[in-house]
Amino acid sequence: MRIVVLVGLPGSGKSTYLEQMSVRGLSSDGIRKLLADDETDQTIHARVFETLRYLLGQRLAIGRPVTYVDATNLTPEERRPYLEIGREWGCGVEAVFFDVPLEICMDRNTRRDRVVPAEALTKMAAKLTPPSTEEGFARVTVLSSVSPPRQ
Ligand SMILES: Nc1ncnc2c1ncn2[C@@H]1O[C@H](COP(=O)(O)OP(=O)(O)OP(=O)(O)O)[C@@H](O)[C@H]1O
Ligand SMILES: [Mg+2]
Repeated sequence: MRIVVLVGLPGSGKSTYLEQMSVRGLSSDGIRKLLADDETDQTIHARVFETLRYLLGQRLAIGRPVTYVDATNLTPEERRPYLEIGREWGCGVEAVFFDVPLEICMDRNTRRDRVVPAEALTKMAAKLTPPSTEEGFARVTVLSSVSPPRQ
């Protein structure tokens, strides 16, 4: 079994990447919608990620071969729980980093329905720490904004 942690700013293309592969990730926005009927509700952060980890554990318990974590996962602190869960279950944890410049994320952000405030995006970009193997990931794949869609 594998856990694949997606890392990238809003608008960097995480959900689009999963859509292109026709896979459904565990998405923090999707869970916000399930819990609060609103995928933008930022007031239930802890509950959302607790639910995400619970669902991940249930998927591992039934032996699903791959689970994608579709959230921004910008810092080592936010990513650590998945590395711990991977260790508990003896499964590899990989990261896919969407290395897309803030300007491009800003531009894409303004063109879609769910618009993240520009100020929030700037703050997130300042916080973003690229994932590394030193952090514990078995593999880190970097996709740039010019990368063609890949498997
Ligand atoms: N490689 C790409 N080239 C051009 N546009 C893209 C690309 N990837 C995604 N987009 C567009 O950018 C927008 C945001 O993409 P997407 O929803 O996949 O981002 P996200 O990383 O999932 O963001 P969030 O963290 O907010 O969920 C969408 O409108 C999508 O169509
Ligand atoms: Mg998304």
